[in-house]
Amino acid sequence: MSEKELIKHAISAMEYSYSPYSDFRVGAALLTKDGKIYTGCNIENSAYSPCVCAERCALFKAVSEGERDFEALAVIGGYKDRIDKYSYPCGVCRQVLSEFCDDDFKVIIAKSENDYIKKTLGELLPDSFSINNLK
Ligand code: THU
Repeated sequence: MSEKELIKHAISAMEYSYSPYSDFRVGAALLTKDGKIYTGCNIENSAYSPCVCAERCALFKAVSEGERDFEALAVIGGYKDRIDKYSYPCGVCRQVLSEFCDDDFKVIIAKSENDYIKKTLGELLPDSFSINNLK
């Protein structure tokens, strides 16, 4: 699975974004280590706080189907379909990803399939709080 292909899946997922309050549409595509893809979009709510981000939507879909080993995630988003900035995963999504993904997990932050930045989860969330703290 190429980076461009994973971004294409994130772009398709963005089409399903339910974002009538922010008009900010986000799509994510999560790649498992055995090559499966789980997509997600942001889903907003009139009560605001129950909104879910695209990244967690994709991750929760995957985990709820038994997946635990992840390779990479592509994310893309923009206000009113104008994708002129890199849309990084929010802090909550970084923390939730860190529950299941190692520091070398690849995060692709895209403006298009040809314009993207690559980071590791360790770069996006250094010194994270984890299960090891609780033991
Ligand atoms: N959003 C995401 O889907 N992912 C992020 O990492 C940041 C924000 C969504 C949540 C909300 O529906 C909209 O973008 C504006 O914050």
